[in-house]
Amino acid sequence: MAIIKKFRITTFKKEKNKISLQKISLSYNKRQILDDVSFNIREGEIAGLLGPNGVGKSTIFNIICGLIKPDYGNIIINQHNVTEIPIYKRAIDFGLSIVPQSGGVFSNLSCLENLKAISEIVIKKKSERNFKIEKMISKFELDAVKNTKAKHLSGGQRKKVSIAMSLMSDPKIILMDEPFQGLDILSTRDLQETIVNLQTEDNNRCCIISDHAAASVMQITDKIFVLANKKIIAQGTPGELINNENAKKLYFGDAFKIN
Ligand SMILES: Nc1ncnc2c1ncn2[C@@H]1O[C@H](COP(=O)(O)OP(=O)(O)O)[C@@H](O)[C@H]1O
Ligand SMILES: [Mg+2]
Repeated sequence: MAIIKKFRITTFKKEKNKISLQKISLSYNKRQILDDVSFNIREGEIAGLLGPNGVGKSTIFNIICGLIKPDYGNIIINQHNVTEIPIYKRAIDFGLSIVPQSGGVFSNLSCLENLKAISEIVIKKKSERNFKIEKMISKFELDAVKNTKAKHLSGGQRKKVSIAMSLMSDPKIILMDEPFQGLDILSTRDLQETIVNLQTEDNNRCCIISDHAAASVMQITDKIFVLANKKIIAQGTPGELINNENAKKLYFGDAFKIN
């Protein structure tokens, strides 16, 4: 088993921003959730978005992919202002894909049928579709349950199907909302390796991960943003963040360790 440390990418050098959030603010029913949130993620970066429950992490993902429009601010992808661009066009034009926090699969379809359904939308050639489906089944070790309906899978297996579905389109930007939820220790390591491999296969590809398994996120990310009290209160490499007083006070606590 490879040691986790080998996963971390420390030689990242790209300068171009892939995703920028500029002064994003959002309220739900007059309750402000995000206040003047800005951050940049560069091409090829794997970024982590951490923060306490209910702070607005999923909301940020929904804003980036276009499910929610912010009250104020802009979303820039590949130097294009996409704030007014609908979700399907963001997916097609910018290769954006999301693994939602919950759901993301058709409960009454089997694992195989779920992958087939998504492949018919995103892959034109049938031979290529079947090849990709087989690859995903094998990558996520779903062979034994490929004919089981999603509603009868374990939480972790369902998460794997949802992640496999998000990768069918060969996305360039992958937003993963709690991808480690429900995964056992070995599956967590496999997914960490998969995420890092996605980045090494394509140097421009970028990935944003939000998860409560903070250590699992920090082991594979180039950069971390900590969201608390409606704002980004700390950002930096995992090493920098671990010693950041704001991040300790509002999120990590004193006893937190990466390994
Ligand atoms: N559609 C909605 N209507 C009203 N409040 C919402 C809605 N979606 C999320 N919220 C609230 O916004 C806050 C942020 O939610 P969320 O982004 O899901 O947090 P996180 O992912 O960080 O746990 C929470 O307090 C949640 O209750
Ligand atoms: Mg969430």
